[in-house]
Amino acid sequence: MQKKKEIKVLGNNNYPIGIFDSGFGGLTVMSAINKVLPSENLIYFGDTAHVPYGAKSRDTIVRFSKDIISFLIKNKAKLIVVACNTVSALALPVLEKILKIPPIIGVIEPGVRVAIDASKSFRIGIIGTEGTIKSKSYPKAINKLVKAKVYQQACPLLVPLVEEGLIDGEITDKVVKKYIKPLLAKKIDTLVLGCTHYPFLRKILEKNLDKNIIVVDSAISTALEVKLILDKKFLFASKNGKKYLKFYVSDNPEKFKKIGMRFFSKDITIIKKVDLVG
Ligand code: DGL
Repeated sequence: MQKKKEIKVLGNNNYPIGIFDSGFGGLTVMSAINKVLPSENLIYFGDTAHVPYGAKSRDTIVRFSKDIISFLIKNKAKLIVVACNTVSALALPVLEKILKIPPIIGVIEPGVRVAIDASKSFRIGIIGTEGTIKSKSYPKAINKLVKAKVYQQACPLLVPLVEEGLIDGEITDKVVKKYIKPLLAKKIDTLVLGCTHYPFLRKILEKNLDKNIIVVDSAISTALEVKLILDKKFLFASKNGKKYLKFYVSDNPEKFKKIGMRFFSKDITIIKKVDLVG
């Protein structure tokens, strides 16, 4: 087993957990954290001015992420969750080095651990954005822990379909079939949803997968990882403190609110537009 990274967490127990994504998708992670840790204050930043990150270069994603992380730290985040697979895949290792900020976790390692536990044949499929797939972060993370066959598939059409609310129906069904066909041919027994948007497609994916294939949603595993870290560091927020959920975006708060409601079941009320230099 790989030694788990020591994550230092700063700050007061009632300081918020800072969560960010390129846009709306990370709300699936925030929603999972909110369910697993109902007493925690949460702040979310969606970089709606720059979404999608899926096909952008590492340098650009690092630059955007640095600004967002500084914003979350200014807002006293006690732990930062990179709720975006593309940022986790391309930028997280660089950010940890450049910014020397220890309190940060991504979505890849938590998802990978669950996938390894779930897989019997160690034939694991990964679906994600072009950036995530090209980075090979998932195969690298899996093969650090076990010897497995990892088959990847970039699915660039899935994010726009989800953003348009097309989470079922004929068009999405055709697209899903096309993307998972090569993975089915490889006889995978586990499929990792390597993108924050894909939990919304879980039903249609499962309909098209063989019954024995286990689907891994890294939103849930990341939330459980956050809980473990807070537990280890004695950093749970007090149960009787006043809880808040705050949302920040870099553009178009109205659209974020409308689409965000689909990603996040609770009312998105406190939402502000902030200008980050970048
Ligand atoms: N949040 C991104 C991810 O999880 C998907 C959306 C985008 O391309 O920015 O990879």
